Parts: sequence; C-alpha cells; structure tokens
Amino acid sequence: MRNYNVKKLKILELLAQTSCISGEVLAQRIGISRTAVWKYIQALKDEGYPIVTTKKGYSLSTTSDLILPENITKALETYKIALVNQVYYFRSVASTMELAKELAEKEKNFLVIAEKQTAGRGRLGRHWISNEGGIWMSLLIRPYFSLRESFILTYLASLCVCKALRQITNLSFYLKWPNDVVFLTNDEIKKVAGILLELKAEVDKIDYAIIGIGINVNNQINSFEPTGISLKELTNRLWNRTDIIIKFMKNFYHYFQMNPEEILNEWKQLCLTLGKKVKIIRPQGELIGKALDIAEDGALWLEAENQRAVKIYSGDCIHLRVA
Ligand code: BTN
Repeated sequence: MRNYNVKKLKILELLAQTSCISGEVLAQRIGISRTAVWKYIQALKDEGYPIVTTKKGYSLSTTSDLILPENITKALETYKIALVNQVYYFRSVASTMELAKELAEKEKNFLVIAEKQTAGRGRLGRHWISNEGGIWMSLLIRPYFSLRESFILTYLASLCVCKALRQITNLSFYLKWPNDVVFLTNDEIKKVAGILLELKAEVDKIDYAIIGIGINVNNQINSFEPTGISLKELTNRLWNRTDIIIKFMKNFYHYFQMNPEEILNEWKQLCLTLGKKVKIIRPQGELIGKALDIAEDGALWLEAENQRAVKIYSGDCIHLRVA
C-alpha cells in the first residue's frame, strides 16, 4: 500500500475488534516488538486517533462523536449482512475511492470509511467537500455483473441511502436523477447525499465495483455549495453516523438480492424527477424536456421539446418546476 503503513492499519483493525487489547497481544498478533507497538500507538495518537491507554492495554475511545467501526462490524455479523469481510476506518484520507482501489489488491469485499477526505471526488470530475461530521465511505464489492448491468448499483445505493435516512430521521427524503438524495424545503431541492460509481471491468464481467457514498450528516455545508444541506442543518441536532451506516448496509444487503426491475421500481417510487420538466446539462449541450421514465438500461427517458423521446445516460439534471 502506498499511503498507509500496514502495521498501523493492523493495529487499528485489532483495536476496532475489541474493547481493550494489551500491548503484548498486539505485538504477538502483528509480529513486532512491544516497543514498536508503543511507537505506532504514539504515531496514531498524533494523527488524531482517539486511542486510550490504560493499565490493561489500549482501546479506541467511544465517548467522542466519531464513527465506531467496531459497532459496524458487530452489526454486520449480528444481522448476517454478508457483503464485506472487512471494515476499514480512517481519520483522514485523500479519497476513500483511491484507498479502496489500493486495498482491492489485498482484500475481497470491504467498506472504507473516513472521518474526513482531503481530496474527495464527486460525479463528472468535481471536487466533493468532505469535512468532519459527514459520512464518506466506499463500498467495494465483486458482483457477477456485466458492464451493461452494473448501472443498477448507483440506483441501488441511492435508494438505500434514501431509505436509511427516512428510517433514522422519519423525514421525507427523495431521489433526484441520476443519483442524488434530496430534501424539499420551501420548494427548493437540497442535496443531502450523492453516489459515485467506479468499476474495474472487462466487457463481460466486472472485476469489482467501488460505490462511493457521501452523506452530509453533522457537517456544516460550505457556502460554495448552495444546493447542499446536512441533516444537522435540517433538524438542528446531531445524528449518530454509525447507526446510519448500519441501516444503509442492512438496506443494501436486502435490495441487493432483488432483481434490477424491482430495484428500479422502488427507486421510481421515491423519485422526484419523473414527470417533471427538467434541463439536462451535458458536455455536448443542454436539453430541456419532460422526464418520462427510467429505461431498462438505466437511462433517463426524456421527452425533448421537439416531442422526441431520447435516452440520457449522464449529465446534470435541473428541475425546472419543483411542485
Ligand atoms: C456526487 O457528485 O454526487 C457523488 C459524490 C460522492 C462522494 C463520495 S464521499 C466518499 C467517496 N469518496 C470520494 O472521494 N467520493 C465519494
């Protein structure tokens, strides 16, 4: 791995798996000296990890408002969510997408979560602001899909984020094409979460899919993102991000077992775009028309102003009439 010392990573994994672990056991499990363990622990503390040292050993503090990866791992076991074999957790990374790509060489299916990203990436090559307090994570899975079938993953992920946020907050979140999770306030559409899909594939089969999920939870939205909003700003309170991640994983596992048609039907029920007059902005130009439906291949059917129905595969979508 390029950016992360493997021994430090192992220490974090072991700390996340137990409530307290002694320096001696850590040293044995990793195959290093106790002095080396001590040095790595100091370095991790310097990096901001909330590691508490007691007479019995080391533990990750659970009092701070941090995501608790060990609780996610436990919940995956308890609910038998057989999606990933590892949950990686970091205080700060460039982008969980990049890190997932590196980790793909050594691990099968996994989830990478970061408290903060310094170079978060959004759709269409945009920067994604990822300050502390949000959920920034990438889920790497290896489904038996062809490249053509993999479009369903973004619909699946946005549907599951939307459902998770509805279940946790009891608020009415919706979906906006192509894969935004939004909230309607004063007839304005505000984006709460977005999905980014990256694939490593040959035509017949994908090797892996990395599903990047960004959810504005307890973070403050920057003034450069006027169309964004966080749960905290919406509700004036903080939300437990660990619970949201667990709910998302539960939903994802549930819907992952359904066929694409069923997933799309569920997605359409929560979608605000269909039936609306929209503007689609693409590098090749803008199109205005009525959003009709989602095609079987994932494209948006748009009835353009000349009455011709066209398929749109990507682009920015602006709702021209909200109500
Ligand atoms: C969008 O533009 O709507 C997609 C945003 C996806 C952001 C997430 S945050 C976790 C993962 N890591 C990244 O760098 N991007 C995705």
